[in-house]
Amino acid sequence: MSQTERLPRNRTYLMCPPEHFTVEYAINPWMDTAVTVDVALALRQWRLLHETLTGLGHAVHVLTPEPGLPDMVYAANGAFSVDGTVYGARFRHPQRAAEAVAHQGFCRDGRWVFADPQHVNEGEGDFAYLPRAYGGLILAGHGFRTDPAAHAEAQEVLGRPVVSLRLIDPAFYHLDTALAALDDRHVTYYPEAFSPASRRILAQLFPDAVIADRADAEAFGLNLVSDGRHVVLNAEAVGMADKVRAAGYLPILVDLSELKRGGGSVKCAVAELRT
Ligand code: ARG
Repeated sequence: MSQTERLPRNRTYLMCPPEHFTVEYAINPWMDTAVTVDVALALRQWRLLHETLTGLGHAVHVLTPEPGLPDMVYAANGAFSVDGTVYGARFRHPQRAAEAVAHQGFCRDGRWVFADPQHVNEGEGDFAYLPRAYGGLILAGHGFRTDPAAHAEAQEVLGRPVVSLRLIDPAFYHLDTALAALDDRHVTYYPEAFSPASRRILAQLFPDAVIADRADAEAFGLNLVSDGRHVVLNAEAVGMADKVRAAGYLPILVDLSELKRGGGSVKCAVAELRT
């Protein structure tokens, strides 16, 4: 594919400002409750990410942050939407359970068909959608958070084939820390985050994927948001920026150092609403 084909598509996103952000529990290896988070800095960095996305012409809705829900800034985990249907989240850890309710409230305005989940799943943390791969394909991660039963449930609710991928490295506990959609049919991923069988499946489905390495993944370089042309990623992920540039995309680096303390970066903070 030539570089001129890397065309952006206007997106609708949902974000939640880190007003109540703290690291007061540790549910992934990145979280250290002994380190104090700089909320003012987290907010400034979040606003820059918000401005970057709106500056690219995308619509960004803002979810009202709630006290007592410090991880609410990771809006990607609250639901997963495809073609106007929202498959709700059901969090693995009780500390985050109430976030699902806030997302559900946002979606109950008539624009969406909301589906209540029976199985544990963490929204776009573990689900990715590629509308032009194989006629519309969902990739789904399991191993740490999302229950594999939720993959089958998502397939029924959303009416798209779901490919289950097993994550094996606790540092990359959500699919969106190990794999990202670069556009409607191309992905980038870090193979070693997946089981050998899942690696074979990814290689079969996406022979032209941009392959990331451990340094890219540790810099949260795979936790990116792309509109098909502009790839917004964590400032630390310079190696990953070079790789996406070489593949014909335009990397835009944003510093999200504070959000990394909670174990997330760009993609975690941005849910895509697909109408
Ligand atoms: N502290 C949050 C958790 O462990 C971080 C979530 C990151 N979000 C994401 N989409 N990967 O649940």
